[in-house]
Amino acid sequence: MKPNISTTIGTVELRSCIYNASGPLCATKEELNNIGKSKAGAIISKSSTEQYREGNPKPRYFENELGSINSMGLPNMGLDFYLNTSEELIQYEKPFFLSIAGLSLEENKKMLSKVVDNEFVSGVELNLSCPNVLGKPQTAYDFERTKFVLDDVCKIKDRCFGVKLPPYFDLIHFEQMAEILNQYPLDFITCINSIGNGIIVDIEKEEVVIHPKGGFGGIGGDYIKPTALANVRKFRQLLKNEISVIGCGGIKNGSDVFEHILCGASAVQVGTQLMREGVSCFERIENELIELMKLKDYLDINTYKGKLGVVNSM
Ligand code: DHB
Repeated sequence: MKPNISTTIGTVELRSCIYNASGPLCATKEELNNIGKSKAGAIISKSSTEQYREGNPKPRYFENELGSINSMGLPNMGLDFYLNTSEELIQYEKPFFLSIAGLSLEENKKMLSKVVDNEFVSGVELNLSCPNVLGKPQTAYDFERTKFVLDDVCKIKDRCFGVKLPPYFDLIHFEQMAEILNQYPLDFITCINSIGNGIIVDIEKEEVVIHPKGGFGGIGGDYIKPTALANVRKFRQLLKNEISVIGCGGIKNGSDVFEHILCGASAVQVGTQLMREGVSCFERIENELIELMKLKDYLDINTYKGKLGVVNSM
């Protein structure tokens, strides 16, 4: 029998638990259609603002064998474009998630109110963790502010809804954030966004590799997998069952997906590897996960989801 890798987020059903991370290759019509045609289990858009944005000056993305750094600055087509494109994406018979990252709470509320009139968007991922807009801190590092934002947006949201979180590194912070999240009717959290404000050095030129912010940018790829797994694991342990955890960070093959699911992920998103490989990565990673599950005699991801063991002491 072929292992089942389908999943459900809130009431939204995905044929495959593997899809794209908001960010790479999901801003234009062509890119969104390409994800639609691929084996990705869902489509999520680039984080949208109300208006079109050009983003930061280039070079603004760089990758090496260990991962990536970016300071894109939210280049996107603007909300109306994504709402208008949502109808043509239904031909792919997979969920379409809209990511929104307004530059203010008022902008996020206005965008969410517009989604209410749209019947083709399956769910909304509210980005509380963009590290790359000058003068705008990552909302979810400010716990009071996060509560204030959730109070407001949860009054407006009318469908599958979750938040994209930055990585946390302190056990107290996981507890404080989980206590807040548990007070709201969220369907999911996505963790993690890139590790904010890292630097990659070009040794030959003795320079940083991206221009914006003097070279500081969000780190993705292999560099961040252990942090991503820890965030998935800790939030799965602390959050109520109604809130699914979507894993993101360092996924480039089937065993990375398996690790995220063991830590408690209900679905996973691929960022840096999608940028490297293009949308064919979804079919390859899916096949690798299925082969691994066959080897381990698992017929369904739910059989091992969250079941990561603890090593015995000697
Ligand atoms: C951008 C980067 C992010 O990590 C994010 O969450 C949103 C936007 C960007 O620079 O475009």
